[in-house]
Amino acid sequence: MAIEQLRPVFHITGGNGWINDPNGLVKFNGEYHVFYQYYAEATYWGPMHWGHVKSKDLTHWERLPVAIRPDEQDDGCFSGSAIVHNGKLWLLYTSYKKNDGGVSERQLQALASSDDGIHFFKHGIVIGEDDLPEGYCPWSFRDPKVLRVNGVFYCFVAAKLREGTGRILLYKSTDLFRWEFVCAVTGESGGKMIECPDYCTQLGLLTYSEQFQPHEGKTHLNIHSSFAHFGFTDFEKPFVPDSKRQIIDYGFDFYASQTFADEPIMIGWLGMWDRNYPCAKYGFAGMLTVPRRLRRQGDELLQTPVYAAEKVCEKAVNGRLTDSISVGAIRLDIKDLRAFDLKMRKSDDGFARFTLSDSEWIFDRSRAGARIVGVEEDDDSLAGIRRMPYRSAETVTVEIVFDLFSAEIFVNGKALSATLYPEPSADGLDLEIDCSSCTYSRYEIAKS
Ligand code: FRU
Repeated sequence: MAIEQLRPVFHITGGNGWINDPNGLVKFNGEYHVFYQYYAEATYWGPMHWGHVKSKDLTHWERLPVAIRPDEQDDGCFSGSAIVHNGKLWLLYTSYKKNDGGVSERQLQALASSDDGIHFFKHGIVIGEDDLPEGYCPWSFRDPKVLRVNGVFYCFVAAKLREGTGRILLYKSTDLFRWEFVCAVTGESGGKMIECPDYCTQLGLLTYSEQFQPHEGKTHLNIHSSFAHFGFTDFEKPFVPDSKRQIIDYGFDFYASQTFADEPIMIGWLGMWDRNYPCAKYGFAGMLTVPRRLRRQGDELLQTPVYAAEKVCEKAVNGRLTDSISVGAIRLDIKDLRAFDLKMRKSDDGFARFTLSDSEWIFDRSRAGARIVGVEEDDDSLAGIRRMPYRSAETVTVEIVFDLFSAEIFVNGKALSATLYPEPSADGLDLEIDCSSCTYSRYEIAKS
């Protein structure tokens, strides 16, 4: 394959060009549909379209035509969600109008529908400026997440107070066209603006992303971060959390996640604002995470990656193991873990490294190919490091999903994800482990 055609093998991209947030995650006529923020003309953000793929197994994705695009109605189709109703597929998205002479920027919620799940008709604005409660800005009002509870449609939308920060607002409707404001679901955000609220009814899980967050400790360093909160809303009153707020993913690259309508499976943007994208040299920038099945255990949100794969190797290991992998997955089922040092995507030029220190996992991508820089200026970010707490347990399961330009690490359900840009041929794996027992398995992605 020519170098300029290199793409992730089973992670969703736009083909060519730029993508950011996943949008409209929904199952329609037995197939999973995923849309995403897309600009085909460049490897940087531009007028937003909704790119579109579908899949039967959440691993092999078929590219479909762009679903919605800017036209006389809007200058960009920002993030949103999807729902099936009366046999049709409906998209609720943010219609963005740029600052145009005397009229300042507007972000309002619009509707589109499709009979076949491929061709969409735009119906125009359905939650407009007049539907915003007093004190909120119509230029920071976006990312509607629609759901249906007991036959009524509800919609969470991110908004911003004129004199304040972000909040999530709740609307309701009986027909998707006429919406009524219910209440502000959350208090003010820590960051400057909330983005991409999502509510998973099966788990009572509210997730959202926040822009320009003050960093906390060493495990929350991304200036734009995504959080999860379990709790309760009866859709008439604000959300009442019943768990601590937690970071969804401890890695460098995770933002704007969304769950499928009616299924606790989440996909995020495996990327981040304000970073360089070394894959631009291959003609694309941005990809989505592997789908992750979510569950709750006590206070904790746990994630299991979903991919169709075949086990191609299984062996007991204690001490040293070497293997090769650049696309696929590995899994380690470990008893009484005492020491762990894993080098991945190894070549003569470098590697990424995942190690256990006393109380935390440390991921280091500083020697794993092209350098990625962001706006974060703390020591870890400058050194290419991210950390995840280590909770000592009798059994530790480490699962790592590899694609040509990423590694997503799951340890007992906690996630740390990163883009990586080593040479595509860098496939060395080198593990040193001390434990009472460990089974190592390697998986190849199933042929479609
Ligand atoms: C989040 C976001 C959304 C917005 C979209 C624009 O990453 O900023 O709030 O709708 O990206 O592409």
